[in-house]
Amino acid sequence: MTPAGLSAAEVKACCAAAYSSDAVALVLGDSFHPGGRPLTRRLATVAGLQSGERVLDLASGPGTTALLLAQEFGVSVDGVDLAAASVARASAAAQAAGLAERVRFQLGDAEQLPFPDDAFDAVISECAFCTFPDKTTAAAELARVLAPGGRVGLTDVTVSAAGLPPDLAGLAGWVACLADAKPLDGYADILAAAGLERLAAEDHDEALAAMVEQVRARVTVLRSVTRSGAALQGVDVDRVLQLSAQAATAVQQGVLGYGLLVAGRRAA
Ligand SMILES: C[S@@+](CC[C@H](N)C(=O)[O-])C[C@H]1O[C@@H](n2cnc3c(N)ncnc32)[C@H](O)[C@@H]1O
Repeated sequence: MTPAGLSAAEVKACCAAAYSSDAVALVLGDSFHPGGRPLTRRLATVAGLQSGERVLDLASGPGTTALLLAQEFGVSVDGVDLAAASVARASAAAQAAGLAERVRFQLGDAEQLPFPDDAFDAVISECAFCTFPDKTTAAAELARVLAPGGRVGLTDVTVSAAGLPPDLAGLAGWVACLADAKPLDGYADILAAAGLERLAAEDHDEALAAMVEQVRARVTVLRSVTRSGAALQGVDVDRVLQLSAQAATAVQQGVLGYGLLVAGRRAA
């Protein structure tokens, strides 16, 4: 369920706009998910990516995951994101890395992917599935674009069965990838309903704790070193600090976490 008074389209647009802003890049760095590049490597390894495979990076953001997969695992990657500015930034990064032939980015919505059936050997999606308002449709789309025998690998925010404190469940919590997070088993169930069988699951809660602390520290420093917080224009700094303090407590209490999940489509 989306926050009161907002349609699913509005929530998606808010999320896309937030993650394509310069302020978010400044605070999060070049990888917009807990665990950064080391966790992307772990995900690619557990998902068994092989050189030459075709991979979809769903909700590719700045393109860091896609570029790493191409450089270190020898795959070709199509990245899709809802934000035009993120697609442009990621395409420029692929060009600069000399990988534009093998790593392409385009606009697209997880709930209506712009690819034919069976197009990919693997779909990777980091810190994004939790933000999709219609996860059942997104899972069906993942299953549709995966070839038989293909794997889907997610890293994502998880929430315990106790559920989130109400303050983290509004629009800000949604954009921060918290509000509609599920337990890892909940994500596995959604994928299973689309015909994708769970192959592996791991907890990486410490990665979320570290990212929440990084956000708090960087926002505090940027506010104090840049005159009137100019670098954070458009960001409600007090709200971000309040949200990160609440998120840190929720991680400490075991309510919020971060997980890795790999599921597969049966070979034909
Ligand atoms: C937290 S960022 C993660 C970006 C990237 N996966 C990473 O780990 O660096 C979430 C991304 O999901 C994208 N996004 C949100 N909803 C989407 C949707 N329905 N379809 C495609 N992308 C979406 C946002 O634009 C944003 O770039």
